[in-house]
Amino acid sequence: MKMVRPQPNRSSRGLFDPYYVPDKLLHRDREMDTMNGAYKDSFDDEYGINCLVHGISGVGMTVFSRYFLTKLVPQNFNAHTVYVDAKHKDTLEIISELNDKIHREENKPITVAFDLDVLWMQFKRTATGAKKRTVFVIDNIDETNEEVYKKLARLSKEIKASTIGVLNSHDYRMLTKLPATHMSYDHEIALDTYTQSQLYDIVRMRVEDTFPLGLTEEIVRYITDLVVEFDASKPKTTVEALKALWPLASRGQEIDSDSVRSATAAITTFAHDNDYMDIIDTISLNDFMTLLVLEAFCEHLMHYKTETYIDRGTLNELIVIKCEELGVKHVPQDIDKSLQTLIFQSIVFESGYSQNLLYTLAPPEILYDAAVSFRRELARRK
Ligand SMILES: Nc1ncnc2c1ncn2[C@@H]1O[C@H](COP(=O)(O)OP(=O)(O)OP(=O)(O)O)[C@@H](O)[C@H]1O
Ligand SMILES: [Mg+2]
Repeated sequence: MKMVRPQPNRSSRGLFDPYYVPDKLLHRDREMDTMNGAYKDSFDDEYGINCLVHGISGVGMTVFSRYFLTKLVPQNFNAHTVYVDAKHKDTLEIISELNDKIHREENKPITVAFDLDVLWMQFKRTATGAKKRTVFVIDNIDETNEEVYKKLARLSKEIKASTIGVLNSHDYRMLTKLPATHMSYDHEIALDTYTQSQLYDIVRMRVEDTFPLGLTEEIVRYITDLVVEFDASKPKTTVEALKALWPLASRGQEIDSDSVRSATAAITTFAHDNDYMDIIDTISLNDFMTLLVLEAFCEHLMHYKTETYIDRGTLNELIVIKCEELGVKHVPQDIDKSLQTLIFQSIVFESGYSQNLLYTLAPPEILYDAAVSFRRELARRK
């Protein structure tokens, strides 16, 4: 079985620290170049710029902005960096944090203050007099804190500092597209969702960075397939799944397809509301072959718990054997038709990685029981 092996410097921080920045940010070169170029121009010609980074929640906005701030800025520009996560913080908390952090960058003690205006004045004075120009990131901008961001963006222009505002697509539309509001920004960088193979690379790398013994490639692929199919290819959801698997794996437990299904249950609950008995009952009306195909399919997955897929070739062989056992005529076209039905009814799924690989969302035992009982019933009726 092919394994995704851990790297020597692995640590579970890569799963449990929401501000973790991997050594390499995969498949964001174009966006990062745009961002880096914009800030480079602003540094060369000595003006401040404000960028908005946006995308659907979970696509990797935080890591993108933090990668730029913690890896590229120190490498390319001689600047202070200040990151504030504004989520669930009120104006006072955000300004205090800005104030603390700019003072820390400047190595200056702060005077304790609890008054908003006093804090802002302190912050403004230190930011303006700073020995280096600063890049500020405000993560999670929304309606409740857009005023703070706007104020910071305006100040930055005055003092030739720069800002990066990070917000999800929903807030982006609300705050930038409504006539009443007016976000101050020069550029925007939209982060797209990843393709199947890009997401696979990201999950694979994160497994290498964090899992004590690695995981099999099939398991990594299965997680990716489920998240692409059911949760818009969000890397965040794959990390959530890995977080759920990590304690099992670190205790030495083998990660099988059941563990992955339960680790991704949050995104597939709607599908589990399906009454499989009902669906299988309907599709199997006098359709002996479809039940047989499903039976063979599930038998294999039940037998090989760590396998998450069955390829069409293996499935065909199993069906041929089953047909012989039962004395049923084996017609290849019928098998294809049955598989099409099962795929169409969302009982069986094709891997986004290869159409040749098939998987299920439901535990195979459940599907197997349904298939066998309806097939016996059909046989009785005949
Ligand atoms: N290109 C990438 N390369 C490596 N890891 C990535 C990449 N994109 C996202 N990730 C990882 O995916 C996870 C989610 O990313 P992040 O927290 O940045 O999402 P977000 O868009 O800020 O989500 P939220 O809506 O919760 O703010 C993180 O663990 C992050 O490190
Ligand atoms: Mg975020």
